[in-house]
Amino acid sequence: MNRLIIIGASGHGKVVADIAELNGYDDIVFLDADPTKKECGGHPIVGTDNDCSDLKGDVFVAIGNAEARKRIMERESTRNFPVLIHPSAVVAKSAKIGKGSVIMAGAVINPGTVIGKGCIVNTCSSVDHDCVLGDFVHVSVGAHLSGTIKVGEETWIGAGVTVNNNVDICGGCMIGAGAVVVNSIDEAGTYIGIPAALKK
Ligand SMILES: CC(C)(COP(=O)(O)OP(=O)(O)OC[C@H]1O[C@@H](n2cnc3c(N)ncnc32)[C@H](O)[C@@H]1OP(=O)(O)O)[C@@H](O)C(=O)NCCC(=O)NCCS
Repeated sequence: MNRLIIIGASGHGKVVADIAELNGYDDIVFLDADPTKKECGGHPIVGTDNDCSDLKGDVFVAIGNAEARKRIMERESTRNFPVLIHPSAVVAKSAKIGKGSVIMAGAVINPGTVIGKGCIVNTCSSVDHDCVLGDFVHVSVGAHLSGTIKVGEETWIGAGVTVNNNVDICGGCMIGAGAVVVNSIDEAGTYIGIPAALKK
């Protein structure tokens, strides 16, 4: 049996479990902070994340909040965190992906791109050539990063966002759904609209 312990029994966790099965895990269990939850995506919830050390297997943190993802991955740093890639994703041979990251269905990652640990490259999003994504970045569903873009640690790129090529986005940002980022962003904050501007 090939066990994966998924921390976070949410909708996101359910998608991660589906990809994990397609990656050969046949014994999937969840841990979740809510002790009243019993199952997620047909897999049992066997405890809270504090019970992780009692269980054998690889670990994946499926929590949308970047801070929580980072905190738990650091706490469990001795565990093996796989990279999960949906079979329909297209990942260039030269792309590098850090541990505990998930690349979801239909995503495209082009050559020369480096993705940090604990990242989410969500359904049908794309990260073009020579991009650098820091740790715990989330590229949401249908977001598109053009070539040679840098995104700092823990930044969340919202659904359907477009980022122009050669733009740098610092860490700790939230780019609101549907925004178009045309200039580099060097101050953490929430940015929305076309062109993306700091949300007041
Ligand atoms: C940007 C965002 C974080 C703001 O959330 P919030 O602070 O709770 O904002 P509110 O919903 O209170 O909206 C405040 C104002 O900003 C506007 N606004 C919110 N999100 C916006 C967006 N993405 N683009 C343009 N305007 C937006 C609202 O219409 C509202 O305007 P008003 O004051 O004129 O009525 C959020 O709307 C967002 O885009 N989240 C991303 C969700 C996502 O991509 N999920 C992906 C899952 S894979």
